[in-house]
Amino acid sequence: MRHGLPDAESRNHPFFVHLFSLKSRNTRLQRGCLRGVQGPLLFGPFHAPSRGIMAKLKLAVIVGSNRRDSINRKLAQALVKLGANAFDASFVQIDDLPMFNPDLEPQRPEPTLRLKREIEAADAILIVTPEHNRSIPAVLKNAIDWASRPYGQNSWANKTVAVTGTSSGAVGTAVSQQQLRMILTNLVGVVVGGQVFITFKDGLIDAEHNITNEGTRAFLQGFLDQFAEIATKLAA
Ligand SMILES: Cc1cc2nc3c(=O)[nH]c(=O)nc-3n(C[C@H](O)[C@H](O)[C@H](O)COP(=O)(O)O)c2cc1C
Repeated sequence: MRHGLPDAESRNHPFFVHLFSLKSRNTRLQRGCLRGVQGPLLFGPFHAPSRGIMAKLKLAVIVGSNRRDSINRKLAQALVKLGANAFDASFVQIDDLPMFNPDLEPQRPEPTLRLKREIEAADAILIVTPEHNRSIPAVLKNAIDWASRPYGQNSWANKTVAVTGTSSGAVGTAVSQQQLRMILTNLVGVVVGGQVFITFKDGLIDAEHNITNEGTRAFLQGFLDQFAEIATKLAA
């Protein structure tokens, strides 16, 4: 599979990975590292620096689905496993939050306080979201709104956030991710570049949270490595 515009060969694979800018970003990052920006570290295609003895980044993972058998949760679990070298990850629960209502703000329900605590404690945040009617699911927007309040106490501020998602549709959550980026731009420190749209097919992720296709696994490893590299710089 090529990591670019899908071609006939990649269409025959059990899924597409749509990647328009990550390859060139990786190349730029590798060049930067070879110039010594990152010091004496090992590189290869889609491989960012080894984190060596550095502490792992504390990663908060938010899945934009409250469905029991969510394919986005499966993808998130696979990404957590793939990124275990760089990230110490924990999942943020969002399906027990009440519907946001400013009237509740003076006495915020405990789940909304927990949400803010968990986001604020993280070095970086990964959002893995489905697409609902060409937008983000209501459960995710609800969580974003709760964590952005009260006014002046936005928990997203200065956070480094990466987004991805999967659906069975051909464009694999591209539209919802664009909308999510637009929302986050107003709230967070940095939304990491690169676009990772995954069309989900049975067998893409096994029961042990492994990504079964070598090409996709390598690609997603590059995505996570790049995310870790940027988040590390910004957390310093
Ligand atoms: C209300 C609703 C709207 C949906 N709209 C879209 C859509 O716009 N684009 C898309 O690719 N899939 C759409 N889907 C299909 C979802 O991608 C599919 O249900 C997927 O499994 C959701 O991810 P999850 O399993 O992580 O919840 C929609 C599903 C629902 C329930």
